[in-house]
Amino acid sequence: MFLQPLIDAVEPVSSTVQMPAAMSEGAESIDWLFYGIYWFSVVFIVGITGAMLYFVWKYRRRPGVSAAPTKDHTGLELFWTILPLGMCVVMFHVSYKTYITNAIAAENSMEIRVRGQRWSWSFQYPNGESEPTQLWLPIGKPIRLIMSSSDVLHSFYVPAFRLKKDTVPGMYSQIAFTPNKLGDAQIYCAEYCGAGAAEGSGGHYSMLGQVKIVTAEEFEKHMKEISKMPDGMTPDKWGQELYVKNNCATCHSVDGSAGTGPTFKGVYGRKETLTTGQQVEVDDNYIRESILRPQAKIVKGFETGNMPPFVFTDEKIEALIAYLKTVK
Ligand code: CUA
Repeated sequence: MFLQPLIDAVEPVSSTVQMPAAMSEGAESIDWLFYGIYWFSVVFIVGITGAMLYFVWKYRRRPGVSAAPTKDHTGLELFWTILPLGMCVVMFHVSYKTYITNAIAAENSMEIRVRGQRWSWSFQYPNGESEPTQLWLPIGKPIRLIMSSSDVLHSFYVPAFRLKKDTVPGMYSQIAFTPNKLGDAQIYCAEYCGAGAAEGSGGHYSMLGQVKIVTAEEFEKHMKEISKMPDGMTPDKWGQELYVKNNCATCHSVDGSAGTGPTFKGVYGRKETLTTGQQVEVDDNYIRESILRPQAKIVKGFETGNMPPFVFTDEKIEALIAYLKTVK
């Protein structure tokens, strides 16, 4: 089971009672709006309920006192129509401004691709490198996330940014923000996207991830790290690391057990029968094609797996091939 753990103590302490720490500029304006409307409502609920109780008591039925009819008062009617209308207009205006701030990216913002797929998030940076589960961001840099889904509806949700947006198959959605606090923030999927086919294969509940807000130097260092094989590592070991990090184990076991996709035990050199009835041998070319275009040649019996394509560099694909050769 490759359930990503919920983040731990690195998360900054929240300054508000009802929400996690705000970690972007946009989040602070949403909190301000939220608490503004919240206290506005508290004052009116207490005021209106109090006045109601007072009048119920004051004008209760008493012996010898008969009810007197009330008359229209145009001034009063205008007052309680126009004043609340004005309040609503102000609330709408402030909300709309806040909404626009979070929907439209600053001109110099960094564009990052977010892909949702059952059951993980992956992120592609401006340099073309992608990584699963973790979204690294440099502090103080305006960010624009361009989001899509490889299969069904998901919803990218980061409470620390107060942002949630659906990722929809066949179209792009986007959000914009500027992270302004160092630390980790939790990513959730907020759209029920499936229960998982087999036991231990994950599901909507396991579609978690982390945002890591770091300094510009740490960000640059991380970009270098994810693009090449770590020093002192062999391709097959790196391939194994990529297998774990990219949640391949969700569908492809290495111990021969059945999953959503064919097991990787003894996969290299194996003869497979495709859905077309054609026979193929699992070699370097077949593995490469199946990573980049998984729907091209599907092994018979795995028609419903629906693997999404993975955007990997040649070095990463070759490392995965080297690893698969070792899984016997
Ligand atoms: Cu993806 Cu829930």
